Amino acid sequence: MKIFQTTNIPDHHKEFKLSKKVNWYTWSKEMNDFLSIWSKEVRKINQIRRIYMSNQKYIHDTYALKTSKIENKELRKQLYDIVDSFYIFKHNSQPIFFTNMINEDITFNGLHCFFAALREILIRKMNDRWSVIYSPVYTRQKNNEGEFPLHYDMFIPKILFMIYNNVPQGKQGVSTFLSTKELEKILSKTKSFPSKKRKLVTEILRKTERQRDQYGAFWDLIHDENNEWYEELHDKMESKKEFVKFKKGEGFLVHDRLWLHGRTKTRKNPNVKRLIRFVFNTQKIIEKESIKV
Ligand SMILES: [Fe+2]
Repeated sequence: MKIFQTTNIPDHHKEFKLSKKVNWYTWSKEMNDFLSIWSKEVRKINQIRRIYMSNQKYIHDTYALKTSKIENKELRKQLYDIVDSFYIFKHNSQPIFFTNMINEDITFNGLHCFFAALREILIRKMNDRWSVIYSPVYTRQKNNEGEFPLHYDMFIPKILFMIYNNVPQGKQGVSTFLSTKELEKILSKTKSFPSKKRKLVTEILRKTERQRDQYGAFWDLIHDENNEWYEELHDKMESKKEFVKFKKGEGFLVHDRLWLHGRTKTRKNPNVKRLIRFVFNTQKIIEKESIKV
């Protein structure tokens, strides 16, 4: 089943440079029909589990829903077709943006159940429980006065698919982006940034180590204010950062190691229904990684 179809850029995005550069998609007609029926079907389902996959410091947990909980056989069958489309999904280095992913018929709860079930089937197909994570939103604000600076999520799977649901009004909680290519250029122009560390950044991004999470390592290099390069680097990153304000039902898909993302300040902590964050590997990524091994 085809998952997405192209669509026009929404009017309110025409003020954002990146929004004008990327391709816009929405659910395909078939997916829209499927998800509309699905959303009604799962209204009363409350068997979604939250699975903690690791006892390491790094937060690694996922929502999951057993497909046996879906009584409608036809829907279950269609779900397997959709899984294949995610598995062979082709992406390039550019982000893609989405609109109208939540609408009158497709509910947030419907998508929540859909991605939880999709994760269960995809991991079986890939024979790897780490290949797909439907990652809950962490609601505890850390520091940075409500801002979430540019970062990579660094999950083991690489394709980051976000659909926004509960977003603050106005100029708060604006998404920010910077490409890895741009970051590399910035790092090479940041005189105070040691070249050894530049190599370390490349290494962190190229290698995904299952036993050693690199989220903190990257964060400390870029965002530790005690680094002597902090100010010079941040000024440069600030000047190249892209801003995009997503509304309910909009979102994006990026290769996590090719794009940094973040969020501007919000007054309130995000709640668990802020967004859907589905992170998955594709056949292409798995094949590429297995060659390296
Ligand atoms: Fe993130």
